[in-house]
Amino acid sequence: MAFQDHFGYYGPTRLVMGRGTVGEIPQIVREARVQKAQIVTDEGLVAAGVVARVAQVLDHARIAYSIYDGVEPNPPIRNVEACAAQYGAENCDFLLAIGGGSSMDVAKTAGVLVNHGGKITDYFIGEKPVPGPIPFLLCVPTTYGTASEVTPFAVITDDNHFKGTVPGPHVMPNVGILDADMAVALPLPIAAATGMDALTHAIESYVSLLSNPISEGMALHAIRLISQNLRRAAYSDHNHEATQNMLAASTMAGFAFSQTRLGNVHAMSHPVSGHYGVPHGVANAILLTRIMAYNRYACPEKFADIAAAMGEDVTGLSAVDASLLAVEAVQNLSDDVGIPATLGDAGAKAEGIGMMAEDAMKSGNIQVNPRKTAIKDVIALYEASM
Ligand SMILES: [Fe+2]
Repeated sequence: MAFQDHFGYYGPTRLVMGRGTVGEIPQIVREARVQKAQIVTDEGLVAAGVVARVAQVLDHARIAYSIYDGVEPNPPIRNVEACAAQYGAENCDFLLAIGGGSSMDVAKTAGVLVNHGGKITDYFIGEKPVPGPIPFLLCVPTTYGTASEVTPFAVITDDNHFKGTVPGPHVMPNVGILDADMAVALPLPIAAATGMDALTHAIESYVSLLSNPISEGMALHAIRLISQNLRRAAYSDHNHEATQNMLAASTMAGFAFSQTRLGNVHAMSHPVSGHYGVPHGVANAILLTRIMAYNRYACPEKFADIAAAMGEDVTGLSAVDASLLAVEAVQNLSDDVGIPATLGDAGAKAEGIGMMAEDAMKSGNIQVNPRKTAIKDVIALYEASM
């Protein structure tokens, strides 16, 4: 039931999946013929000993590295510039991101500056494209959210709190290592937010106007896996099976939305995070059910598929009735993992709705949302979510 009858598929990232697979980094580095890593990460992962696990692997293999651990949430331009400067000063020749989407996106965009110069805002959507390759980039996700390890996007917050996207095939990482040992003990709020981000990717991709049979297959199975595994992964520090399934689901959703873009949820969540610092996955999760309810009449059969994938019994129901079960299933999951009920509860302010709506309308995701959307609709959806 794809909307597209002409489509392509491009997903060049090599994946290595399973417990302990960070141990394969030296072999991958040798095959790539690179010498010195710029590790890109945040202070929390250093303090938690997560970065040390990879560092031990590198030390044992006598692979040199420098650590940039200054990545902040909703990463600002200064992170990108500092990371690129360190890469040059330390004579690194490849990038190794360890973390969530913020670390991976700083690695991607630092790589753009290292190889192509200029300011990172020069490469935001609507400006000039990234003209050629970035350094070899290996990503080790430690959350199950952004799927930046396989996507052709990096999101950076500019000095006006606008979250700009640097897109294009050159920012797709070379290798993603999906190692459950690196993500099994996530704090509950991070597990909840990033898991709901992955679910948002899968749902928005599945109903996108650019969906195709390949993206739909990956998106729908990602929805199924997240529905079956997010609660167990979020509430247990020991469930490697659920964690590995969440990592796989996140990456599949990433492959899917790399082909299709996203929709109103991401268009509207970026301004919430950019202006009020609300974690990306939290803003998505709050907006998701409101926007599913708004979208469901545009493609009720697709929402019925989502309901079934989430384990709802749709037998004998019309597509419209079944589509409502999809909204309820997502709300139940969101509640179960402790996502706040409203954007106001998460820290956003109603007086910012006009400003956020203007930013949201600049997103290319509005155009691929299944239901036509004007700025008055965006304002109404923000009001309903506040
Ligand atoms: Fe996202």
